[in-house]
Amino acid sequence: MATADFGLTTTKAPFIENAQQNGEMFIHQPYELYSEENQDTWRRLYQQIRPKWEKYANKKFMEGVETLMLDPDNIPKLQDVNKYLQPMTRFEAKAVSGYVPAYIFFDCLRQRKFPTTITIRDGKKLEYLPEPDIFHDIAGHVPMHTDQRFADVLVRFGEVARQAALRAQQMDLSDEAARDKIVESNIRALARFFWFTIEFGLMRQGDDLKVYGSGLLSSSGEIEYCIESPKVQRYPIQLEWVINQYFEIYHYQELLFIVDSFDHLFTFVDELEVWLHQGKLDNTSGGEPKINPEDLHSFLTAELEG
Ligand SMILES: [Fe+2]
Repeated sequence: MATADFGLTTTKAPFIENAQQNGEMFIHQPYELYSEENQDTWRRLYQQIRPKWEKYANKKFMEGVETLMLDPDNIPKLQDVNKYLQPMTRFEAKAVSGYVPAYIFFDCLRQRKFPTTITIRDGKKLEYLPEPDIFHDIAGHVPMHTDQRFADVLVRFGEVARQAALRAQQMDLSDEAARDKIVESNIRALARFFWFTIEFGLMRQGDDLKVYGSGLLSSSGEIEYCIESPKVQRYPIQLEWVINQYFEIYHYQELLFIVDSFDHLFTFVDELEVWLHQGKLDNTSGGEPKINPEDLHSFLTAELEG
């Protein structure tokens, strides 16, 4: 037998390792490299999640799934997805080789580009996700990007991140450590906001509670748990709570926040910007997520002309 062919399996893909070693962040999707097992993983993930979407996903997401014509049987080609997506909201899925530093990620949203992972999780561990994969990014995130108002939220959020970078670069440099502490606090606030809304948000729909967060929409276990479990705390969103609340990524979320609509969510992004300029994001509580040096660096060195 030939040596193991992992195709484009998460953490086992030579194509991705090479790209990372060469410092290539934005790449193409080498579709021919997906193995039969990779395709089978997609198929099984899609089969598991489809009935859960029908029960728990918000209406706009389901419309997005139809619009994008996601194929239950084959891993999507990004160019096909974009063909349907771009005319709707000008958003575009862009293949990346892995981790994208915080500012670059947020600024892509401002430019209506969505950094998209092209690897797929190991078929032996469907529920275990060490990092995002194409199922999370394309089946979990991208259908939401077909909705105009949701797309506006992402762009607006990217603008707030840009304001944070501008502010960071204009800060007094006499005490660099103090400056870094403030900027880290700002990034923590942004990351928490993103987590509790775009990744794990719940939304009212009539008398029901529905899911719009992509972390939930791409997990057939958690999408049910987040709505049904009596253990989960679900509260109307409050900005002061969200920006100060730590989160852990390795287990189901036990605390979630509810918005009334995407218009409602948009008002919170506006408020986030006001709070940034007032200094209210400068002393958020410590704890997760840890802001790594690359994330900090990305804000301090961003090119902000124009
Ligand atoms: Fe995500």
